[in-house]
Amino acid sequence: MVVLMLLAVHCIYAQGNGTSTPPQPAVGSRDVPVTSVAGESWLSHLHRTLAETSMGKTWRLGPPATLGEETSRVPLEISPLHATQAVTLYGSDLYRLNCRGCHGESGRGAPPEINSVINPVRATSVALIRERMKKSGMDVSRADAEELAGQSRAALLQRLHNGGQDMPPFPHLSEAEIRSLVAYLKQLAGVPGAEHEQLGVNESPIRVGEQIVKSTCHICHSAAGPNPGPQQLMDGAIPPLETLTTRTNRAEFVRKVTQGAPIVMGTPPLSCRGRMPVFYYLSDDEVANAYMYLTFYPPYHWAVVDPAMSTLVPRKDSRGRTEKNRRAHLGSVSALSSPGS
Ligand code: HEC
Ligand code: HEC
Repeated sequence: MVVLMLLAVHCIYAQGNGTSTPPQPAVGSRDVPVTSVAGESWLSHLHRTLAETSMGKTWRLGPPATLGEETSRVPLEISPLHATQAVTLYGSDLYRLNCRGCHGESGRGAPPEINSVINPVRATSVALIRERMKKSGMDVSRADAEELAGQSRAALLQRLHNGGQDMPPFPHLSEAEIRSLVAYLKQLAGVPGAEHEQLGVNESPIRVGEQIVKSTCHICHSAAGPNPGPQQLMDGAIPPLETLTTRTNRAEFVRKVTQGAPIVMGTPPLSCRGRMPVFYYLSDDEVANAYMYLTFYPPYHWAVVDPAMSTLVPRKDSRGRTEKNRRAHLGSVSALSSPGS
């Protein structure tokens, strides 16, 4: 019964709108240490090609690779303090660094591949559950509404810790970050009063870089692997994260991400526009932090079994292996890895 009602609540919600974030006190987030990024890209994990997905897409490409490309460049704005000064991230920033690459600015995603976050978040609000149920002619007691809201909230937290069917887990987010993020999700979904719950989290620059790399870049870029040549790039190879800090210097790296830059590919090698989306909503400083993170925490060479993965329900991937024997396979590889190697 409760499950049926939950489904009903889920379906009848209208979409909400986000509003701006008023500052609130910041809390520290030292409870999750910074670690290197490991393993194959999320797209490789799903056996999905760049052409087949909306994940990690901003629907903006870099400038065309014309001969006089220098003229279209905007000067970079990297602050000398970006590497040392702590920053306060609000839930809206955590959403931008970790979720926006798939769910977009509005949270609506790209159905049917990427579900909207709006209804599942609205379903965590007792007031909204009661309001909507009433409108659709069903009366629900406060206690029942609270139970439904509690279930929805647990499902949301469970999803962030363990991932979904096709959504990656976020074990690198601390409890404080998740609290701040969930408060913003509620604001985005138009939950009444959510604007008063917004919380800031103090972050080191390296942690900002870690979140960008693990949540956004790792959708397409695997941690480690061979450095592709021009023809392999043309054929669809995506250079692994461990090669990026040698393929590009910091300025080229930042420009590729925030403005887009041509890439040499094909035979004979020619300057092309490339397929990587432009992450125009990341600042130059934030992307410089991602470069610093990749320099100081070089990607692990071998797949490391993520503790969060062990709670995933076994399921078959497209090669017919279950998650469990896939992990056993990865486990035998991870025995060879050691942090910092
Ligand atoms: C790599 C892409 C990707 C990223 C990044 C991502 N998601 Fe998702 N998300 C998905 C996909 C795909 C689905 C739907 C399929 C599934 O459940 O796995 C989904 C579904 C959801 C849902 C809705 C589930 C429902 O009940 O309909 C919520 C809520 C959600 N994501 C929240 C988040 C939050 C919060 C973040 C950032 C911390 C995030 N997602 C980051 C891919 C992503
Ligand atoms: C949607 C997939 C996708 C995502 C997400 C993505 N990239 Fe890329 N990236 C590519 C592809 C494809 C290439 C190969 C070059 C091209 O086609 O533009 C590439 C190439 C690069 C290069 C190499 C440029 C060169 O000249 O050798 C850098 C640097 C880079 N990406 C950084 C990043 C960073 C940092 C992030 C995260 C903020 C990121 N990418 C996120 C797809 C992606």
